[in-house]
Amino acid sequence: MIRFYHVYQSYQKDVFALSDISFIVNPGEFIFLTGPSGAGKTTLLKLIIREEVPKKGQILVHGQNVSSIPVSKIPRLRRSIGVVFQDFKLIRTKTVFENVTFVLKTLGVDLKERRRRAHNVLKMVGLQHKTHFYPLELSGGEQQRVAVARAIVNDPALLLADEPTGNLDPDRAGEIMDLFEKINRKGTTVLVATHDRDMIQRMRKRVISLQAGRLEHDSGPQIQVEET
Ligand SMILES: Nc1ncnc2c1ncn2[C@@H]1O[C@H](COP(=O)(O)OP(=O)(O)O)[C@@H](O)[C@H]1O
Ligand SMILES: [Mg+2]
Repeated sequence: MIRFYHVYQSYQKDVFALSDISFIVNPGEFIFLTGPSGAGKTTLLKLIIREEVPKKGQILVHGQNVSSIPVSKIPRLRRSIGVVFQDFKLIRTKTVFENVTFVLKTLGVDLKERRRRAHNVLKMVGLQHKTHFYPLELSGGEQQRVAVARAIVNDPALLLADEPTGNLDPDRAGEIMDLFEKINRKGTTVLVATHDRDMIQRMRKRVISLQAGRLEHDSGPQIQVEET
């Protein structure tokens, strides 16, 4: 599903945001990516969706080398990956329905099918009764659930979340995590970046920890990576 092989990323000469990162994510896994602020979590997620290209090393996503895929294939890569952010990133001037189905519309999916898919995902996140509300008419927890619905509406193989509970109180954060578990049980691979240690302890999943750009610990399947 995802393979990092001796990956390095830097924004300034000789300062590495990520150093020699290697790991494998198998289909169906649920993984936390943790580490203090500045450890490199967001950078790692950006590399997966090809928002950035690594300085060194190789990244495979769905078997494709994301550094070398042609620009024309990037949209298809991104459509196979749902992303949830800390600050929800909903469009204020669009309703819940419009936010959730925006990408489907740009892909030419007809209204009937958009309604069907929105109904399914909004039911999944428990918000079918808020379909025609605007984001600012919803609580923070509800807005994040809309963002999760939007991320899964195209049935992605992989769901990435970057500090998805950072703006939520503990109960609402727990609801989002329960939702990720439910999505994972339906077969989607889930990778959640968070520095919330309590949450990670409660969930008992594989944990990959970064520390100053280095992979400090991986509680999951250990992989043999040959030295380069
Ligand atoms: N666009 C950028 N330009 C320069 N430095 C960056 C940029 N993005 C991230 N960094 C640096 O890379 C390191 C890792 O950042 P980041 O991946 O955002 O960490 P985290 O998400 O774990 O807080 C930090 O030192 C940060 O300052
Ligand atoms: Mg970050």
